[in-house]
Amino acid sequence: MFDLNEDTITDAVLDRFAGTPDARLKHLVQATVRHLHALVRETEPTFEEWRVAIDFLTRTGQMCSDVRQEFILLSDVLGVSMLVDAINHRQPDGATETTVLGPFHVADAPQPPHGADISAGLPGEKLLVEGTVVAASGIPLAGAVVEVWSADQDGFYDVQRSDLSEPALRATFPTDRDGRFPFWTLMPAHYPIPADGPVGDLLGATGRHPYRPAHVHFMISADGHEQLVTHIFAEDSLYLDSDAVFGVKTSLIQPFEPKPAGTAPDGRLLDQPWRHLVRRFGLKAASSALELSDIRTKSYSMSDN
Ligand SMILES: [Fe+2]
Repeated sequence: MFDLNEDTITDAVLDRFAGTPDARLKHLVQATVRHLHALVRETEPTFEEWRVAIDFLTRTGQMCSDVRQEFILLSDVLGVSMLVDAINHRQPDGATETTVLGPFHVADAPQPPHGADISAGLPGEKLLVEGTVVAASGIPLAGAVVEVWSADQDGFYDVQRSDLSEPALRATFPTDRDGRFPFWTLMPAHYPIPADGPVGDLLGATGRHPYRPAHVHFMISADGHEQLVTHIFAEDSLYLDSDAVFGVKTSLIQPFEPKPAGTAPDGRLLDQPWRHLVRRFGLKAASSALELSDIRTKSYSMSDN
């Protein structure tokens, strides 16, 4: 292949990948080439613009660490994370809608008993969460594993606060025989996604704000069901209609009911007003098709990291 030009180079590159043994990998790589070349043809970048683009991606990678994933953040603010989520979670009736995982999930969170207060002494408005996990058919799921995490009254997760040595506002609960998992936490605040890196630069340069509306994260696993990753958003929060990562769905917005000081349903006496969130989560039955695609994905060396 000599003398390639702007009319012939795309086919030449596609042809170079034509012998890829794995059919799915071949499709992914060739589609990437086609769309990248189409982007360049549409935008006709100067060399300086190309250098800026490479520098942006370089800085995005360099920003990543054990506690910061700038590429996920980039995927989030471009709406790609939610598009991937939508394609992979076409939920049946009775199954709770999904949304982004976000960058603040931590594995192996503490496992306090039901009814525990997971706020670790942090200040803020108390929030009683009374959750129930059911199958999409409505049958309660006992022994499901529910991971919860949320921001504090200033919009920070525990992993963002250097003054905390222990986890706070995050926990793992098994559901009881009726599928229930009650706990106390704090009313979360809306918060900005980390905006001190290249993704923040992108938002600033394009006139976008970095905020997410107030929410509590839930990740729920149960045998024979697809894992549910979702949030519940507070109905009275700012930014519901302009979430920086496009994660809001109407079915996930609900009241975090304000309650006066007094005795809560579990007998706890509160000397300040508090909030009450009651929510049922429906899980979709696992399909054999999903398991097959899962196995196939794991066979790619590209996706192993
Ligand atoms: Fe969050």
